[in-house]
Amino acid sequence: MLGLSAPAMDMAPPPPEPAFVLLSGFMGAGKSTVARLLAARLGLPCVDLDQEIGLAAGMDIRGIFAARGEAGFRTLEAEILQKVLRGPVAVVALGGGAVLNPESRAAARRGGLLVTLAVDAQTAAKRLRGAADRPLLDADPLVLAARLDARAEAYADADLLIDTHGRTAEDVATVLFAALNGRPDL
Ligand code: S3P
Repeated sequence: MLGLSAPAMDMAPPPPEPAFVLLSGFMGAGKSTVARLLAARLGLPCVDLDQEIGLAAGMDIRGIFAARGEAGFRTLEAEILQKVLRGPVAVVALGGGAVLNPESRAAARRGGLLVTLAVDAQTAAKRLRGAADRPLLDADPLVLAARLDARAEAYADADLLIDTHGRTAEDVATVLFAALNGRPDL
């Protein structure tokens, strides 16, 4: 008969180190919603990097782009990510361009599990129709597709890739939660 004896219990591996789960991917991938759902399931706080950036700058993302340009936004984005990673362990929704900075990407991977939520340009455009708060969301689908293509390498450099096509945010959170539970290092 199989049963766990006391010595076998003693040999159980130590509890895993708590680690950040960082969600990356293009605009419209569902990072913020999935982060919220996953954080609730894991019992961890949820941090939205764009929100933190907005709080730090005292204005919304569009305002930051207008006042400081994309370069100014990226500098702030990298700084705030480092700050978040020094704080309590959380599920973090990154902005779509955060991993374009190699140092940020490396820091994210050191801090925990970097997960890319994959989305195609057409789906992203459909999900974000009417959104006015994204300065880099081009109305021209070809421009959007080219931007996504240019980022393919950065998005591929992740610990885990989850396709969001045809999946609701709930579905994606479920798939991700299951993947996390199957990982012995989390
Ligand atoms: C950006 C994505 C946005 C936001 C900013 C820049 C990008 O976040 O950080 O507008 O470069 O892809 P979401 O991915 O949450 O839309």
